[in-house]
Amino acid sequence: MKKLIAGNWKMNGTLESARALATGIVEALHADRDVLERCDFVLCPPFLHLVAVRAIVDGAASPITLGAQDCAATPDGAHTGDISAAMLKDFGCGYVILGHSERRQNHGETNQTIAAKARLAHENGLCVILCVGEKEDERAAGGELDVVENQLVQSLPPTANPENTVVAYEPVWAIGTGKTATPDDVRAMHRFLRRKLGECLAHPDKVRILYGGSVKPDNAAELFRVENVDGALIGGASLKVDQYMAIAHGA
Ligand code: 13P
Repeated sequence: MKKLIAGNWKMNGTLESARALATGIVEALHADRDVLERCDFVLCPPFLHLVAVRAIVDGAASPITLGAQDCAATPDGAHTGDISAAMLKDFGCGYVILGHSERRQNHGETNQTIAAKARLAHENGLCVILCVGEKEDERAAGGELDVVENQLVQSLPPTANPENTVVAYEPVWAIGTGKTATPDDVRAMHRFLRRKLGECLAHPDKVRILYGGSVKPDNAAELFRVENVDGALIGGASLKVDQYMAIAHGA
């Protein structure tokens, strides 16, 4: 399967820098048809920058799909400040990131909330990038498999299938820290996730499992060589055209 190269821009940038970044990536991809044979591309800007980025990446032949960084856990109505899955689909998003550790930590999101969001995303035709990952102390105590299993099993709604679900393993201690899980750790966790997916849905071998957490040009190729690593969810390095493209070349 093609590798998925997903950029999570988080809460960074201005309208102008978002336009420049999207333009740079589109131009780089047009100049490099080879990488399109091997990778699919998703960009997840902040909500307010989606309109500007859509204008740049749009078009039937575009190799880039737009994604959002969250959606509401309810379909519509009196929810000040929320954006629904239906709105994202209507707008033209194909993906939504759910369950990111920053939302679990900063917004108290539980597996149950994430499952409700994921179900709505699925019902509205979005593909969910479901994030799971243990904290440093949980790994130190040998609990990483249990933590990740609970997150996966409890956050995946019954609507999940390989077409509408991507799993991203993001160890919390590797996010934005420059520390990356070793290839052996990634291999063990991704194999485990593949096995657990088999208990949750049909055709688990067709679900893309991404690695995220300090993915950079200099470690991408090694990570992509690990079995069951089907792409990357990239934070900091997705904000620089050359780094994002270099990571894609690692595939
Ligand atoms: P960094 O690549 O900045 O570590 O962020 C990873 C991440 O959280 C992507 O969702």
